Amino acid sequence: MIIDSEALTQASLRLRNGEVVAIPTETVYGLAASIASHSGLQKIFALKQRPFFDPLIVHVASFKEAASCVKEWPPLADFLARTFWPGPLTIVLEKADHIDPLITSGLQTVAVRFPAHPLAQDLIKLTGSPLAAPSANRFGRTSPSTAEHVKNEFPNTGLLVIDGGPCEVGLESTVISFSENFDEVRVLRPGGISIPDIENALTKWSNPVRVVRAESSESPGHTKHHYMPPAPVAILDGNASRNDFARISKDLKRDDFKSPKELELGDDPVIAARLLYSELRRLSESGADLIYVLKSPQKTGGLWDAIWDRLTRASSWEPESGSRL
Ligand code: TXA
Ligand code: MG
Repeated sequence: MIIDSEALTQASLRLRNGEVVAIPTETVYGLAASIASHSGLQKIFALKQRPFFDPLIVHVASFKEAASCVKEWPPLADFLARTFWPGPLTIVLEKADHIDPLITSGLQTVAVRFPAHPLAQDLIKLTGSPLAAPSANRFGRTSPSTAEHVKNEFPNTGLLVIDGGPCEVGLESTVISFSENFDEVRVLRPGGISIPDIENALTKWSNPVRVVRAESSESPGHTKHHYMPPAPVAILDGNASRNDFARISKDLKRDDFKSPKELELGDDPVIAARLLYSELRRLSESGADLIYVLKSPQKTGGLWDAIWDRLTRASSWEPESGSRL
């Protein structure tokens, strides 16, 4: 993907002027505004129809910039940042005083990440300030992993979309925080960096640190009924049959499905993650009135857990609970 420097300069000017620009990152596309522009930040929420209780991630292009957004930059954060940055790891720490409460939904903490995509880095540097950015989708909908997805999500808005090609990871970043005495890493949202990746890195750290999955209530905004494509998604055990479809349509109070289509994940979690959101969109657009995914006991652990997390949040129906709409 070739983006001329003219387009980047244009984008950075808009950002400095308090406008919103859609930017590529290695995880998903983001809807960015300068953290220095209160009105730019407000525009993100308006465009996305995002509730104010859902805090934004601050994107930086250096370790120094990350440290400037937080009250204190602890050694453990520095160690993990130096292991995984630039990359899909977001670190939640106590916020610096200058961080706009709109970014943090009034919380005393801020989420910071150094994205790997070179265009995101260039744009942060050109703008001269970190960029706050949620995923570039309307609230509750599937995240965009191509520039095309973003354009379709916000038609007729004049939104400038920087095309950086399809996202390499395809799933949002892993969000972590720390226990008070730094003996625990809490994974608030599973993502591009898996728990075993973090555990592995920590074997080189001076003190023992546990890595635990935190309750989703600690991660504001990471709610159920997120990431939903227009067609309902169902997670099925084993082989799907006509009987399952009949039960699902009854549970969801819908007519019989005429065109249920399977989302096939394949065997490689890296590829499955990369294609997940594109496939959900493609199946919806191809006229599926139900998208179903078959659960497989082999597909667990590591990146698979992040994939199932998103699928569960996208789903309207699961065998244990029946309808969740
Ligand atoms: O990969 C990503 O993280 C993408 C790209 C664009 O960087 N961004 C993204 O942003 O996924 P968004 O807004 O869709 O998700 C941000 C989530 C929030 O919903 C919340 O769960 C968590 O990050 N978060 C942000 N600030 C937090 C805080 N102070 N404490 C706890 N969780 C926070
Ligand atoms: Mg999102």
